[in-house]
Amino acid sequence: MSPSPFQPEHFQRADESDDATFYVEPRLVAHIDDPAREALAAFYRDTLRPDSDVLDLMSSYHSHLPEDVRYRSVIGLGMNAVELTENRQLTGHVIHDLNKTPELPFPDTTFDACLLAVSAQYLVHPIAVFASVRRVLRPNGILIVSYSNRLFPTKAVELWQRVGMADRGRLVSIYCWEATGFRDVEARDISPAPGASDPLWVVTARRADS
Ligand SMILES: C[S@@+](CC[C@H](N)C(=O)[O-])C[C@H]1O[C@@H](n2cnc3c(N)ncnc32)[C@H](O)[C@@H]1O
Repeated sequence: MSPSPFQPEHFQRADESDDATFYVEPRLVAHIDDPAREALAAFYRDTLRPDSDVLDLMSSYHSHLPEDVRYRSVIGLGMNAVELTENRQLTGHVIHDLNKTPELPFPDTTFDACLLAVSAQYLVHPIAVFASVRRVLRPNGILIVSYSNRLFPTKAVELWQRVGMADRGRLVSIYCWEATGFRDVEARDISPAPGASDPLWVVTARRADS
């Protein structure tokens, strides 16, 4: 087995206090602008089948799914009960701190898709979380990680803040490869209007089964 490319300091944060404290107040806001939200919804529309069971990881007030599609189920996992209760696209939710417990609280092969929208920068144990995502995805299930250039600087990990947009795609791809069990890992720029709106990239990966 090759050594990890990461050092513990890569995942340090300026604010190492309990995440539950930082997220105690609900933020009923959009974390990317409307054109970027529309680009993400369009990407989901093209990629997800309506009969999917969807996990929205690090979920909040918006899941950015297309408004006119009803998925079989959409389960949000996040930190704030008010944000998750007010999210009209969720069919259920669970409060769970991934930085304390990277293992997901779901049985094996529960979901067809896992979304991780504009939040990967807050993961302190991304490889353990991605390995657990692989476990809860069904064979051929898809992980869709999106990211932009906004962040809470005190809570984002050091390595994420050090690299640019394209390298963040490489970083998320490395998380997939290090977690193992993913195939077809691909990063792409789907920014709706470069320079005129929030940039938006997605990394997709499918659960690999031999
Ligand atoms: C920038 S917001 C993005 C929310 C949502 N995905 C969206 O696109 O609007 C970051 C989210 O990450 C979640 N989060 C942060 N730290 C977390 C942790 N340790 N465990 C689980 N979720 C966390 C918070 O609940 C917060 O809503």
